[in-house]
Amino acid sequence: MPRFLPIFLFTVLSGLAATCPNPPVPGVGSGAAPDDVCIPAGFTDLTIDFFDDYSWKAFAATVKQFEHYHPLWEIFHEDGSEPGRGVNSNACSADVAPGEMVLASFSGYHDIGQTFDGSLSSPIVAQNGRYVHYLTSYNEIAYQHILKNKWYQRPNLPVVPVPRPALPMSQFPLGAEVVKSAWVDMTGFTDAQRARVYTRTAVVRDPASGKCSTTTVGLLGIHIVRKTASRPQWIWSSFEQVDLVPGTPDSPGYLLHDGTDSPMPATNPLALVPPAQQPVKPFNVVRSAKTPIHPQTVRTNAVYQRLLSGTIWRNYRLAVTQWPLAPGDQSIPVDASQAGSVFQTFPGDGATSAFSNLTMETFQQARAGQGCMNCHNRARLATDFMYSVLMHAFPAKIGLPGKY
Ligand code: HEC
Repeated sequence: MPRFLPIFLFTVLSGLAATCPNPPVPGVGSGAAPDDVCIPAGFTDLTIDFFDDYSWKAFAATVKQFEHYHPLWEIFHEDGSEPGRGVNSNACSADVAPGEMVLASFSGYHDIGQTFDGSLSSPIVAQNGRYVHYLTSYNEIAYQHILKNKWYQRPNLPVVPVPRPALPMSQFPLGAEVVKSAWVDMTGFTDAQRARVYTRTAVVRDPASGKCSTTTVGLLGIHIVRKTASRPQWIWSSFEQVDLVPGTPDSPGYLLHDGTDSPMPATNPLALVPPAQQPVKPFNVVRSAKTPIHPQTVRTNAVYQRLLSGTIWRNYRLAVTQWPLAPGDQSIPVDASQAGSVFQTFPGDGATSAFSNLTMETFQQARAGQGCMNCHNRARLATDFMYSVLMHAFPAKIGLPGKY
């Protein structure tokens, strides 16, 4: 055997090991989001630990900056005009600098409706009787892609031909990140409860009266989706604050549950249109016993919560990472032509672990077909999974449940 071969082999093998360690090495030090999930070559088992580790690293980086991303209202205007932050662009006519937050919609209900099959459905309220508001924001790369294609105007959206193509008509560039966050006015919660939630001020529009005011809001949940080289279907990560529902022993009081035995209703008792006046009588939310957070995710959460101790972010947990699955060597990138159906994603059909966020898909914890990617799959070919573009491009097409 030539003398250099063992050295060569050693270098290659140790190089690989150093590239993607197994198990993954937790850490939130660098502050930059990872470019991609890191899976060792030849790994064929369930990759949940690698994806969850990626999600936490992305979370640690994203929470430092997402409030400076471009909010939906800056891009998609009521009159289809060019993106911008003029006072007419948001429903509070608020003159806000980048980083300041507006939680409002012109209709009064677009920012509180939960998503259901591509339409909006009933909102939820926290235990203080306040609606949970949603805000979608786009990082610079995602924003520039929308801008370049003028996707804020419906005639510019790609038309999907028949027969349907294998690839999306236009793909967001690598590094695009889109975040959907869930916020609630913290009025009425105790100091002990507030101390465990990330809070900030925001201009909030009262859905029923239309009145805007500046108030302290708390972050209850956050979806982070990022486009990576190995997963062009995006990687779907979803985090929640830990005091939402029973299950956290040291919780100072749940934000979405009154602590009694009163069950969660089978369907949402609230109407979206017209939204009832606040304070609204709250109902109990629980995590379905049929789809608890995956035990391996629970373990990864404990590790990262320790790493983040001393920061507010230790009070958040990963509910699920969803990713496109292809058989075989998991380090090999998944082809962009693969769809995001329930059969091609984790946790898949017949899921026994969580695939929903309690603050955003509250009543969709039981139907495995209601995971992130399977639902967003309907927007795959036209707008590369980004449902908000499909719905909000002018003129907006926002489906509401039948009776509205
Ligand atoms: C039942 C369908 C459905 C499910 C399930 C669902 N979403 Fe969405 N999601 C939507 C719709 C519809 C929108 C656009 C809402 C709007 O803009 O008003 C959206 C918006 C988003 C956005 C903003 C970017 C975009 O696509 O426009 C993100 C990020 C997101 N969802 C992530 C997730 C994650 C992560 C999960 C799973 C934990 C998930 N979603 C589950 C339907 C769904």
